[in-house]
Amino acid sequence: MKYDIKNIKLASEGKKRIEWASQDMPVLDYIKKDFAKNKPLKGLKMSACLHVTAETANLMRTLKAGGADTVLVASNPLSTQDDVAASLVNNYKIPVFAIHGEDKYTYYKHLEEALKFEPVITMDDGADLLSLLHSKYKVLMPNVMGSMEETTTGVIRLRALEKLGKLQVPIMAVNDAKTKNMFDNRYGTGQSTLDGIIRATDILIAGKTIVVAGYGWCGRGFASRARGMGAKVVVTEVDEIKALEAAMDGFGVMTMKEAAKIGDLFCTLTGDLHVLRKEHFELMKDGAIVCNSGHFDVEIDLIGLKKISKKINKNVRNFVDEYVLGKKKIFVLGEGRLINLAAAEGHPASVMDMSFATQSLATEYVVKNHKKLEKKVYEVLPSIEEKIAKIKLKSMGISIDKLTAEQEKYLRSWEIGT
Ligand SMILES: NC(=O)c1ccc[n+]([C@@H]2O[C@H](COP(=O)([O-])OP(=O)(O)OC[C@H]3O[C@@H](n4cnc5c(N)ncnc54)[C@H](O)[C@@H]3O)[C@@H](O)[C@H]2O)c1
Repeated sequence: MKYDIKNIKLASEGKKRIEWASQDMPVLDYIKKDFAKNKPLKGLKMSACLHVTAETANLMRTLKAGGADTVLVASNPLSTQDDVAASLVNNYKIPVFAIHGEDKYTYYKHLEEALKFEPVITMDDGADLLSLLHSKYKVLMPNVMGSMEETTTGVIRLRALEKLGKLQVPIMAVNDAKTKNMFDNRYGTGQSTLDGIIRATDILIAGKTIVVAGYGWCGRGFASRARGMGAKVVVTEVDEIKALEAAMDGFGVMTMKEAAKIGDLFCTLTGDLHVLRKEHFELMKDGAIVCNSGHFDVEIDLIGLKKISKKINKNVRNFVDEYVLGKKKIFVLGEGRLINLAAAEGHPASVMDMSFATQSLATEYVVKNHKKLEKKVYEVLPSIEEKIAKIKLKSMGISIDKLTAEQEKYLRSWEIGT
């Protein structure tokens, strides 16, 4: 079996981690048992480009249980857990091409390995694999049944491709599923971003002014958790409705130029470019901390920051770089990459349980329906979402009410008014 990982000897540590995560992934476990029985992915080659974590390992085990022949590569050079990669190779016989901290060249070399495998189904977290498939590996396209996309940024890229009429395979926008968004972007990113910040800096959150750029799913989750730990939270937005929502939720709302002067810590969660840039760095207080939890490392203009810095002291603490600008310092966490993955362990297992359950059932759907699917970006079917929510509620021991016949009739009718 061909693979490229840091050290196979790390496998036993990785296995413990995978098994620990698995205990908090009841929905995926349910699907894994069903897949093992019915083998819906039998003999299919699948390449996944996802964060190589213990939770992803459990997704790979589920796909393999369903009969798929899989390869895993990293979707971010800093999020790979080398022990998990080792265990996937050693204990579960799943090839992995990913090394924590790999450079851009190796990252792309690994992406190519995923495509040289000639998959008929792909999974992406940011659309890097799909974009390579649409360029250098076009020749594989006719055999690809479909692809799953895990994150907002990837869905945006693929919708842009669709709009240009250049999308060549059907896409399931797993990211847009409610069961995914609610758990992953909101509760998962909310908690794990704070976790990453605390692990990187060990600062006390209470009493700090935290500036949250973007009040979408991720920003809402992070803002509410930061407030819960006692921070004074300020939100910046470009969308009037979202800004209004943040204001009505009780947060301070202002422009980044205003916020730059008062923030102790800044976190970008927008999926947008250069949200923090020169004009903001210049206004920041001495000791301000900046980080990003949006998908790509483009939200903080680090090149701009470098240009106005006299000196950069790398790694003054793990995951912390100090930029010296005249008399003040600005600290950048995790080189501007997703801080919850760079400095912490990504989302807790029970969050990824929902995303990966959606990935698994969306894959099964694509395999069953690929002949009728067009080359466009599809929403995950409500029936898949309902199934996942049902299994999750069951695993939590929660029962909910059912509509009575009278209520069903009432909700369907238009005749009954005041
Ligand atoms: N850290 C993680 O683990 C994780 C998890 C899920 C998604 N993400 C990423 O986080 C980012 C946000 O995802 P989301 O689901 O919250 O998206 P979203 O579309 O729900 O929200 C993004 C928000 O940012 C706002 N925005 C855009 N440009 C801005 C700017 N210049 N200044 C201020 N606000 C701006 C938009 O108006 C929008 O409200 C994406 O890049 C996504 O891929 C990260």
